[in-house]
Amino acid sequence: MSKDQLIEMARENIEHAKHGTVTLADDVYEVPAENYFAQDRFQQEIDQVFKRIPLMLAPTAELPNPGDYKSMEAVGMPVLLTRGADGVVRSFVNSCTHRGTNVVINETGNAKRFTCPYHGWTFDREGKLVAIAAREEFGNIDADCYGLKELPTLERAGLIWAILDPNSSLEIEPFLSGYDEMLNEFGFNDWHLFQKRTLKGPNWKIAYDGYLDLYHLPVLHRETFGSDMSNQALYHSWGPHQRVTSPSRHMISLEDMPEDQWDMTTLMMGVWTIFPHISIASFMGGGRSVMISQLFPGETPGESYTTQYYLMESEPSEAETIEAERQFKLLEYVVETEDYGTGLRQQRALEAGGLDHVLFGRNEGGGQRFHGWVQRILDTDDDNLNDLFRSNNARAAAE
Ligand SMILES: [Fe+2]
Repeated sequence: MSKDQLIEMARENIEHAKHGTVTLADDVYEVPAENYFAQDRFQQEIDQVFKRIPLMLAPTAELPNPGDYKSMEAVGMPVLLTRGADGVVRSFVNSCTHRGTNVVINETGNAKRFTCPYHGWTFDREGKLVAIAAREEFGNIDADCYGLKELPTLERAGLIWAILDPNSSLEIEPFLSGYDEMLNEFGFNDWHLFQKRTLKGPNWKIAYDGYLDLYHLPVLHRETFGSDMSNQALYHSWGPHQRVTSPSRHMISLEDMPEDQWDMTTLMMGVWTIFPHISIASFMGGGRSVMISQLFPGETPGESYTTQYYLMESEPSEAETIEAERQFKLLEYVVETEDYGTGLRQQRALEAGGLDHVLFGRNEGGGQRFHGWVQRILDTDDDNLNDLFRSNNARAAAE
């Protein structure tokens, strides 16, 4: 089913590549400049997008085995992800139910139990409170009511989503809009985490715009990727999630072969973004690999953080390790110096107030769709959020 969709997209790509065309959005689209720097807008995006919508917090490769855990902060919320003895990933507010300090301080590890460093209360991998220090003296509480606060969590396609609100009634599945079935074709379930690092960047939407944007490739990245890169983009969407490819001569080469021999690497080409903050780009640095970029807004509208995870399909040999390191190093320069360097100048210029809006062309439909979805989510209250994704999926299925 998803393979059929990949073949259909490849055929569409081939047609565009042969004719030098792309599909265009209806019109040029304006985004108010202050959407990138106004404090109230920024706070709304944190509260109503990042704290309500499922976020992809970790690839499975980061915690593959029972007992593996990861602690992190996502827009200020301390989160603990654990894989239980049953193999199921759960996520919790990383805050001791006694007085609230972080139970786990180490970023990653493997443990059977987690003991709070403040008073020694202990929780198991399933979040259950299993020991209260000086229990008789502490007084009578129902330990079952004081497990770690669990967050709605779903592992799909080798990626782990969670909602940062323990009381959320949003369903993750309709939000994914079938996109997880497409991502599943990567087979991330048994890929390896090679390296990761975190970079600072401009406003999260300035940073994210770049991941949906192929228009800038031959200009901004002429020294690194080359000036012969295509500036054309084709967008496919599943709910708010979008895949970006450029019409490709390489895709045309598939036509000489029967469809059942079309290889997965070519069929999965391009950038796969997960709304609102993930981009997955494929590379051949030391064997089949991807860089997953995970963005979070920072403390102020003008700051963001991006964690880059370099995942490899197979455990690399020594030569592949050198090649993967070279590739990952190059990507650090491309993103930090070229993309975010430019983005920080853009941020400063917009904050100066000289422009009242910025533009997304008919050839930049991906950016248009992204900003449209941010606005749609801001305009939807909690009671109607499930419906927003369900009705969009129903509409897409009818088309
Ligand atoms: Fe870029």
